Amino acid sequence: MAANSSAVWQKGRVVEVRDVARDIRRIVIEPDAPVRAAPGTHVDVVVDLNGVREVRSYSVVETHDDGTRLALSVFRTRTSRGGSVFMHALAEGDVVELTQPMQNFPLRVGAARYVILAGGIGVTAVLGMARVLAKLGADYRFVYVGRSRDAMAYLDELAAEHGDRLEAHVSAEGSALDVRALVGGLDPDTELYMCGPIRLMDAVRRTWQDFGLGLPSLRYETFGNSGWFDPEEFVVRIPRLGIETVVPQGRSMLEALEAAGADMMFDCRKGECGLCEVEVLELSGDIDHRDVFYSERQQQASAKMCCCVSRVTTAKSAPHRNPGRAVVSIEVS
Ligand code: FES
Repeated sequence: MAANSSAVWQKGRVVEVRDVARDIRRIVIEPDAPVRAAPGTHVDVVVDLNGVREVRSYSVVETHDDGTRLALSVFRTRTSRGGSVFMHALAEGDVVELTQPMQNFPLRVGAARYVILAGGIGVTAVLGMARVLAKLGADYRFVYVGRSRDAMAYLDELAAEHGDRLEAHVSAEGSALDVRALVGGLDPDTELYMCGPIRLMDAVRRTWQDFGLGLPSLRYETFGNSGWFDPEEFVVRIPRLGIETVVPQGRSMLEALEAAGADMMFDCRKGECGLCEVEVLELSGDIDHRDVFYSERQQQASAKMCCCVSRVTTAKSAPHRNPGRAVVSIEVS
């Protein structure tokens, strides 16, 4: 089971579950040792995957009454690694193990202007920030991107709360976000906070650099589970240790290697810290880099990968080049 060394673990009782959008369920928990959660915080939760205990991170959507109740919202993905299936099966009265809220995506108060940008379930990481900015009377825009309204959690509540500061971009309605227009229209005093799919965040990061905006003003949180290609089953080998194992669609390479007996290093498990880095010795297929740790140049070199989120795929290659499963041989530190 993965563990964050700075985490304070506790038990919590589920007191409310309800759907807030298609495939998104709100789960409210009363923790044993409540702590008020600041915007941008998340909790780690132990999920039981057929007897295997693993940890998943979920943004704290909101807390009530000094943290005595905290709300999460969990998206059940088509390619779930099991965590969202476990969370969606929770019922009122169930007890879970979770950490106190942990912060690695803080809101810096005092900027001249803000853009809060949410893609899909990424709204859970940023809606608390928008709420604080509204309370402070700050100059902000809340840009919320989704495929269709029924898949956008809290959309009506956010519209009521933020009025015309909320801009909904809904692909199914032909109003998809024009990233260039958004970023190109910002002045250098604007801070942008975003959370969403890797394609959206990558487009914003590249455009941000194209326009010469300061990188410290661009802040983001990843989920570490959305990639450029649909996840495929692939094979990973560590020749030095004589390990070879299959990484199924619903499991990360890190988890598969741990299950195969490898002693792995990791921390965030979201593609942010780089601790789980492995060296790529041989590759049949291509790497679907899903981290935000490496630069674009490092990702293109494909000499290393963050095995907590990144995968190997045949989707980029002509099928005759890589018939069957992709295979990667690696070395771990
Ligand atoms: S554990 Fe942090 S990038 Fe993989």
